[in-house]
This record gives sequence, structure tokens and C-alpha cells, in this order.
Amino acid sequence: MKKHLFRQGRHLLAALLFAFSPGLSQAQGGSITADAPQGDGICPLSALDLTKITCFDDAGKTKVRANLTTLGNPIVLRDTTYTCGVGTHAPSKAVVAVNGATRFTARLGVDDEASSAANHGIVDYTVSVFSNRQETVVMTGRVNRTDGFTIPVDVDLTGADYLVLNLENAGQAWADQVSWANAVFHYAGEAPATVLESDMYRDGSKVQDIPEAEEGLENIPLSSLEIGKATCGWGTIKADRSIDGNAIILRDTTYTSGVGTHAPSQIIVKLNGSVTRFVTRVGVDDEVLPQAQGNANYGNCNYRVSLKAENGDVRVAAEGTIKATDRTTPLIDIDVNGWKYLILEAENGVGGNSYDHVDWAGAYLVFEDQNSTRPIIVSAEELSSKLASPVTVFSQPGVRFMHKLRAANPEAEVSVSDLPEGLVWNAARQLVEGKVEQEGVYRYVAYTTFEGETSKDTVTFTVSSRLEHPVPFMGWLSWNAVQSEVSEAIVKQVADLFEEKGLYECGWNTVMMDDWWHADQRAADGKPQPNPTRFPGGVKAVADYVHAKGMKFGLYTDAAGRTCAGAFGSYGYEDIDARQYAEWGVDVVKCDYCNAPGDVETAKTRYKALGDAFKRSGRNILLYICEWGVREPWKWGAEVGGACWRVSQDVRDCWIGRGSGVGVVQSIAAMKDLAAWQGVNRFNDADMLCTGLHGTGKSSNDLCLTGPGMTMDEYRTQFALWCLWSSPMALSFDPRRPLSDEDLAIISNKEMIALNQDKMGQQADFLFEENNIQVYAKDLENGDVAIAAVNLSDADADFTFDFGRIPALDAQATYTCRDVWAQAACADVKGSLPTRVRSHATQVFRLSRKGSASGIASPLSAEGFKVKAAGGKVTVTCPGTEGLAKRIIVSDMDGRVVAARTAAGERVNVSLSAPRGAYAVSVVCGAQATSRKVLF
Ligand code: GAL
Repeated sequence: MKKHLFRQGRHLLAALLFAFSPGLSQAQGGSITADAPQGDGICPLSALDLTKITCFDDAGKTKVRANLTTLGNPIVLRDTTYTCGVGTHAPSKAVVAVNGATRFTARLGVDDEASSAANHGIVDYTVSVFSNRQETVVMTGRVNRTDGFTIPVDVDLTGADYLVLNLENAGQAWADQVSWANAVFHYAGEAPATVLESDMYRDGSKVQDIPEAEEGLENIPLSSLEIGKATCGWGTIKADRSIDGNAIILRDTTYTSGVGTHAPSQIIVKLNGSVTRFVTRVGVDDEVLPQAQGNANYGNCNYRVSLKAENGDVRVAAEGTIKATDRTTPLIDIDVNGWKYLILEAENGVGGNSYDHVDWAGAYLVFEDQNSTRPIIVSAEELSSKLASPVTVFSQPGVRFMHKLRAANPEAEVSVSDLPEGLVWNAARQLVEGKVEQEGVYRYVAYTTFEGETSKDTVTFTVSSRLEHPVPFMGWLSWNAVQSEVSEAIVKQVADLFEEKGLYECGWNTVMMDDWWHADQRAADGKPQPNPTRFPGGVKAVADYVHAKGMKFGLYTDAAGRTCAGAFGSYGYEDIDARQYAEWGVDVVKCDYCNAPGDVETAKTRYKALGDAFKRSGRNILLYICEWGVREPWKWGAEVGGACWRVSQDVRDCWIGRGSGVGVVQSIAAMKDLAAWQGVNRFNDADMLCTGLHGTGKSSNDLCLTGPGMTMDEYRTQFALWCLWSSPMALSFDPRRPLSDEDLAIISNKEMIALNQDKMGQQADFLFEENNIQVYAKDLENGDVAIAAVNLSDADADFTFDFGRIPALDAQATYTCRDVWAQAACADVKGSLPTRVRSHATQVFRLSRKGSASGIASPLSAEGFKVKAAGGKVTVTCPGTEGLAKRIIVSDMDGRVVAARTAAGERVNVSLSAPRGAYAVSVVCGAQATSRKVLF
């Protein structure tokens, strides 16, 4: 539910910006002026600490302001100017500690400056007082920009502890600018004070901190561990806060540390051998007292603290029932010496799950040996023997394949059986690798064993030269910069630009329209149709234009009745849409998930319905799943017919996003642990690239803590990561603005692109992070390995790759080396490679083992490299490479391999029986790869 509102909010933001544009939001001068009461015993709300009042914040434009509207204009309500008051934008909440004040008066209304368009400026208000934790609603109702009146507010505060002024969006959250005009308190003695909602009823006299540790020990707060791995029955588990985000309070005592959960919840701590004691209080948070006092079934739970040993033995150390209305909360203080796991569980007690806000208050672990491994929180899955790798994998005939097999529990044993000919089990690296020459569907078995329990999974391995998505797509998507302006002209302009700027030659070949290409509604026969003004020639004409350039065409829909921007979605229209898309010539369909139910089973069903309809359409249409990684689509996307899936919320044009905003830092968090799930025809997608945006985007500028816009090093890091990860790549710049040479240099770096387009489709493994430098290694089809260092710190740094810490490399071997950004050779390396990485930059090297089949001493010259296609064969000439092994791969423009050969001559013939068309010929020779397009 929360999520739904949040998503709605995101799109409303765009609309808000529109609503605030000049002309619509001018402050109008009021003809009458109304001054507030003044004098002793009068305290204006605007004189209090306004930072404690919450308010919709549109990148600083809207905020709570004293004596002005939220936009900074004089407060004018229905032509009356108020010199005193507080301007806000809903949603907004003010909580005021009354401190003995007796009365609050104000005038409430939507500001005259707000737009009066339909659905704009409609707000629900509630004024309530709290006495002894009991809320009494004094007044509630709706104010509307179109009202001809304002609301007089006059509240008797006698005996009240708090006054709460709450404003909520009632219409569409657009232009919900509301002022509490002439708002004043009448008081004698202490003045009232605003407080954070979380500080209501916080009794400062009874605060409980975690005690100081004894000499030589450390008291580790439970809340300092990675609590996101725990499970929680409702909402998001919280560190040092209750589940509702308030201070943790049990029986009037505030705990400065602890974990707030909602039952049923489970926290599993892996003690790692050096924790001796665990101390906590457990109870149902005081925040639900008012409800629990009214209903004995509310806030009624069971708890259990148990210990699990290495050999699987379990001992329950404490258990019982807790209620919000209990007078005491159990203290748990247990010896955990020698146990492997500590498990904290809360269950719903009598009466279901209502208000089951369970806190582990003041919880800490006594840690003995500071030099040993610290305790960590692990997920329930990590205690199991389950496989955490895909069971549906793909490759092309004759192309090297790799399948990393990981167990959810890193201590589980992994093994395989029934491998088809050509594949072997690499036990040291826990992966299946090799090459299968024959097309077909093969099966092998993966076993994962932990604590005597074995899970057995059958892997389906499809080897085909007709895969939908053999290498990640490289294209452009209209959302970030263009949004509602997407048009026939813009799509054509992108296709032209790809051609003119040499980008097509580099591999950029897919032009996709995102949300808002749609007409207001479907045609009378139910078929989808484009916006008639922006697509005067219809969709087919645009697709034809793109296809005529040898490029592919994509569009966007949603697996619900409506898209995120409110256009028609495909739910219930799967076949009609699939047939129409096929007729138009659509190659890729990005399928969003706004306005659809949240559970994973429904998501699978809805995406499968689309995938099946695309298959029935008779055209090869790639299903691109976009449910933002919320339901872990890497675990089921391929099984429902998807060939790539987003792993995060929308990427923003910044290094660090705020809130749910995804900057490069958050993209890393979303992608870095998904390497085992990545592979040919099943790609994890890190969302649109921001190269060329420089803060000129639309929603991509929101939710940025840094930026909007990034430094060139940051844009380069984003691009390098997408290439290392083998993420599909969609550029998102505005084609109507010039692309700088520096921008072009990033997206035209063929050696970097070669990493992205590598036919083994592996995502670089995240190996470790040290001093804010992350290290990645990516296995490549020809046996080369790309290694990368990403500098997340704010300072430039020296860094040395230690090959002993990179499992894909042999620390004893010598490698030839390419600096991928520079597209230049570096000196041969053995054992280690020193480099310098600028702040927020990424260094990438491609290493090729010397003396191996693919290794060569002298570099392949891209200039001297010639390709000719004629007479049923492709002839490749690489001067100066006589006697050096090289691998030649000919693929169609989708990355499907049509012929491959390894040979040592300077001139190599590869025979080809393929239909007429454009093909890419790549030669990998030592640490170098180069490719050319030919017409055959
Ligand atoms: C979001 C999606 C974005 C964009 C947008 C369009 O849900 O993540 O990439 O497609 O919807 O409304």
C-alpha cells in the first residue's frame, strides 16, 4: 500500500513541476490584509522551530515557511493577505507540545497561488489533540483551491499534551499548497514547542542506553548489524526506531538503541565464535498502547530466543508472551558462548497480527576478541542448503559458457552431476564451464549440502543459435530526458544520430520509446494506438524508419490496466497488444509494473501472460521485465519468458541518490551481489545510462543527494560498471541537445563495449571493498579476464591489484594487459598490477594469459585489420599476427554467433552460410579484441 502511494508520488512530481510553472502559480496580491493577534501571551506558530514540521519537499522548492507560502510568496487566501502564518505543501504534519497553552486559532485554506486546475489543490485536514496518549479529533474535512471560503480553526487546548495539524493529499497531490494563516497559541508560562512526531510522549527522564563495555570487551548494538537481512511481517524493520519510525519506547522507557520489528519476524545472528553474551529487553512498543487499551487482541505476541549449534542442535533460551498492556517487559541476558547462531523470533499471538510492534530494545552482543570475525546477521535462506543460482541457463553453440553455482549458505558444499559433453566442473571456483557444439536442450544436476541436508536442482541448459537476447541490448530509451515529449521526430532523430555519430558502428542499435507514447485511450476495437499529435504517421512508420537503418525498435507497456504515467497498460489485452506490436514491427517491449498487485506470484503470472502472448504473436519480441527488482526477478524472470529484468528503482543522474533515488552508489548496491544470476539470454539490467544528460533530464534529476548531473569520471564509472556487469545498456540523453566529444568518447569506447557484449554474458564478480575501493573481475569468452577498481572515496588513491585475491587469475602466470579506458597496451604483468584511481573513477584492465591459446605478445592493430565477405566466406587479415592464435567470431547484429573459428594464420577464412545482411566480425587476439561490420 505504502509502495503504491510512493510510486504515485513520483509521477506526481512531474505534474507538480508543471503546476508550478510561471503563469499557473503566481502569487496574487490580496485586496484585504488580515493581521494576527499580537501581544503578551500570544505565540505565533511561525515563531516555533519549523524544521520539525514535515512537508512535501520538491527539491527544496516547497518547504515549510514562516509568514510566507510554501513557495515563498505572501500568504493570500481568497484575496485576503495574511502577514503571519505558516505555509506548507501536503502531505505535512505539525506536532506541537502544548506546554500548558490554552488555545490555538488559525485560518486554514489552499493558497490562492495554487493552480485551480482539476485535481489540483485538494487537501484533507485533521486537527487533533492528544491527552494521556488518547487522540481526540477536533476537526477534520477537505479544503479545495476552488472553495470560496477558508476554515476558521479554534481549538481549546486545556489539558492537552499535544496539538497535531495534519494535511494529506486528497486529489492527485498536485499543487497542494496550504497555509495555516494567522496561526497563534494563547499561553501563559512556558511557550508551546514543535516536536518530531517520534518524540511525542518521549519521557526524557527514563532513557536507557546500551551500557559501557567492560575492559577489553565491546558491546555491539544489534541495530548496528545489517538488519535488512531479517524478516519482518509488515513494514520495514528499523534500527533504533519502532516499526512505525518512532523512538523505541517500552513502558515509558526510551531505548536509544534496539531493533523495531513487526511480528512475525525473525533475526538470525551468526555469532562467528567470539560473542559471549546477549542482552535485550523484548516488548510491544508503547506506540500501540492507545489501540491495545481499546482491544485486548491488539499488540499481543509471542517471542522466542534460541541458540543453534554447529551440529544443528537447538536450545530455546527464552520464550513467552508479550502484550502492549503488560506492565513489565522481559529482560533477556544469556550466555551464548560456543553457539553458532542466535535466533530472535516474534510471532503473532492471540487475535492475529494487529499492532504487533515488537521491539528488541537495548539489544547488544558482548564481543570478546576484537581481532576475530565480528557477528553478522544472515537471512533465513542463508541457513538453508538452497541453491542461489539460476536453473535456466543459455549459450550459443561453440561459444564458451560459464555457470556460477552458489548456495544461499556460503558454507554449503556445492557439486554437480550429469554434465553434457563439453562442460566441466571447476570445483575451485564453483562453476560449470566449457563449450557445447551441438544445439539442444541439456540438463544437469546441481547439489548443495549443508548440515547433512542436500538440495538437488535440475538445471535446464539451452544451446541455441536463435536466442532472443544473446548479448545485452545497446540502445536508447526516451524516459529520462524526453518523458511525455516522446514523438516520431525524436525517435527518428535518435536513429539518425546513432548512424551519424558512428554509434551504430559501435553497437548502439536499439531505439526504444518509454512511457507516454500512447494516445489517451485505446482504439474502439481495443487496439493500442499512439498519441496522434506526436505520432502523425503511426507507430509502424517509426519502426520502419528505424529498421531501415538496420536498427531495432522497442516500446513500453505495463502489466496492469494503467502505466506509471497513467496511459493504458496491457493487462487483459496481452494478445491484442502482442499482435499489434508484431504488426508494427516491435522488437523489444519494456513491461513496467505500476498499478499491479505486489505479490510475486501475481507478477510471475502477469509477465508470463505477456511473454506467452509475444510468443504467439509470430514475431521475436524480447520481454524486458521492469518491476524494479522488488520481487527478485532474477529468480524467475527467465522462467516466465523474460530475457532481462531491472534490478533497481529508476536510475537518477547523480552519484548518490536520496531516499529511493538510485545514484551510481545505489546501482552498485543493487547489482554487485547478483553476478551468479547473470548470463546469456538472462540479463540483470541496471537501468538507463546517464551519459550526456548533465542534469538536463526530467525525473532523473529528482531524488539526488549529489547533482543532478555527474562529473565526467562519475559518468565513466557508470558506463564501465554497466559494461563490466553485462547489463543491457540504454542511453537516455536528449537528442535535441548536442552530445559533447567527451560524452561520445565514453559511449564509443569499443574495448569497453566489447566487455559488455562479450558472448559469455558474465557479470563481473564483486570481490571485495577495501579503503572505499571496490574490486571486480569479469571472465570473458576467450579466457581473458577484465579487472576493475572503483574508487568510491572522495580522494584519488593508489591501488594495487593482488592477483592472489582474484580467483579468475593465476598469480604465477604472466599476462599481457590492455588499459581499457585508454584503449592502449600496458606492460606485461605478473602477480600484481599497481594503478592510480581518481576519486569516483574506475580503472579497467583486460588481461590475457601469455602462452595460452589466445595469448600473444604483439598487439593486434585495429588499423591494419581487414575483413572481406564474399563467395560464402569471410576473410580476415590481421597483419603481423602470423603464428599467433586468434579467435574469429561472426555474429548477426543481435549478437547471435553464425560462425566461429580459432586459427593462427595472418589471413583466416571462415566459411559462412547465412542469409544476406549485416554481420559483425570480431577477432580476439591476446588481450585485444576488435570488430568490424560487414555486409554479406
Ligand atoms: C517507471 C520505470 C521507468 C519509466 C517510468 C515510466 O516505473 O521504472 O524506467 O519507465 O516508469 O513511467
